[in-house]
Amino acid sequence: MTASEPLPDPAVVVLVGASGAGKSTWAAARYRTQEIVSSDELRGVVGSGRHDLDASVDAFRLLDDIVAARLRRRLTCVIDTLGLDPDRRRGYLAAARAAGLPAAAVVFDVPAAAVRQRNAERDRPVPAPALATQLSRAADARAQVEIEGWDVVVRVEVEPVEPARVESTALAEESSALRDGPEVFLQVSRFPWGADPGEWLTSIARAADEAGFAGLALMDHLIQIPQVDRAWSPIPEPFVTLGLLAGLDTRLRLGPLVSPVTFRAPGIIAKTVATLDAISGGRAFLGLGAGWWEREHAAFGLPFPPPADRLDRLESSLEMIRALWSPGTKAFVGAHASLPETTCYPRPVSDIPIIVGGNGVRSLRIAARLADGVNLRGADETVGRLIDLAHGLRPELAVSVLDLPVVGRDREEVWQRVERLRGRTAAATFAASHHAGTYVEQRARYRALAERGVTSVFVALGHIESAQDVLDAAPMLG
Ligand code: UTP
Ligand code: MG
Repeated sequence: MTASEPLPDPAVVVLVGASGAGKSTWAAARYRTQEIVSSDELRGVVGSGRHDLDASVDAFRLLDDIVAARLRRRLTCVIDTLGLDPDRRRGYLAAARAAGLPAAAVVFDVPAAAVRQRNAERDRPVPAPALATQLSRAADARAQVEIEGWDVVVRVEVEPVEPARVESTALAEESSALRDGPEVFLQVSRFPWGADPGEWLTSIARAADEAGFAGLALMDHLIQIPQVDRAWSPIPEPFVTLGLLAGLDTRLRLGPLVSPVTFRAPGIIAKTVATLDAISGGRAFLGLGAGWWEREHAAFGLPFPPPADRLDRLESSLEMIRALWSPGTKAFVGAHASLPETTCYPRPVSDIPIIVGGNGVRSLRIAARLADGVNLRGADETVGRLIDLAHGLRPELAVSVLDLPVVGRDREEVWQRVERLRGRTAAATFAASHHAGTYVEQRARYRALAERGVTSVFVALGHIESAQDVLDAAPMLG
């Protein structure tokens, strides 16, 4: 493994190298301050300063306590000590095993001359004989870690470069490798639009276009759903809203994800989406589902039949919508629906993609027979299993996923958002189930989903307040 490959996360990461090898610098460029447990820093906490060797025993006792407490919570822990004592290394490895976390050793293989020079330039250099001992123990440690049983051993042997340059080089390599990732749509589900809803919506759509999103999708709910916000938060009618966005000068594809078939008569859905397609120059798509939330139906006086009936309705609605979008005006007789004529103008100007939302087997069957794609939700493993099922039903069925990750520009911002959103769920659990990671990390994940057969990702970013937040997400596209 090279220094630029990602380490497992969460993980126990043990740094190994002589004084001045660059351990603390390496850690600071990759991890949040709180994730790094440093014996030097703890000497400063319990002793007179970072170099107060008389405070070592107390500092290491504290360090072990901190490591144990973080591992109990399955939080990443970077252990920034010399790492040259084999017994201590074994202890950290055992602690990682006991916590069920992967253990990585990061070994600093920097030339002795470079270490000596860096040491000499520091304000309190380590005395030369002590450094010589460290350098020889570091050489031993490099060989030992290979047979100690670490899950990952990373060698840092490159000549020193500024952290910023490491980052940008990695980014450049990644972006060329990720060009064939899935297309990413922005799913807007919260509407913190202040005093001017139209202006806010317009600015979000323009930013989505500028950032490079393939399209913009809206939820279709009558009351804001509890998973997103409070019931009295605004949630606009999607087709009126998409009509506004269709009038902007963008390339965004536009549609609901997903409209329940229980809200509108199927012919009205066909008419509305054909109109959206015509006025947007062929940029409409239609996400359709069986509906799931009883409360919004009751509140708006709409019937909410049992699941099997709603799925029947999904099936017959798709037949009717397809009939009303096909050429001519002849009568239609389908397996589940019939119409005396199919006079519906304007016709769609494009071949409007229909995406059925739902993870159920029947939804997949309906999608395979009558739609162009299916939209899935859930853990990446669940999605993987459903993709196989969907492709077993129809190999060319497009598969999209609705993704609700916790993201940020850097690790610090990601974890601030985890902390703000996690409620009573443990941070590590919440982070894992919400794919917490930077925008760049999400892009790598999406590429893996694409390799698994996912063609599009609809990403809902719960933190979006402003156009700038949308622009910040650009690194996840590619
Ligand atoms: P560090 O302070 O990162 O070393 O770098 P370390 O391994 O953690 O050392 P100890 O064990 O705590 O004593 C040492 C010096 O080398 C410079 C840093 O700026 C610091 O002054 N350095 C580090 C570089 O010039 N380039 C690098 O890539 C890393
Ligand atoms: Mg250090």
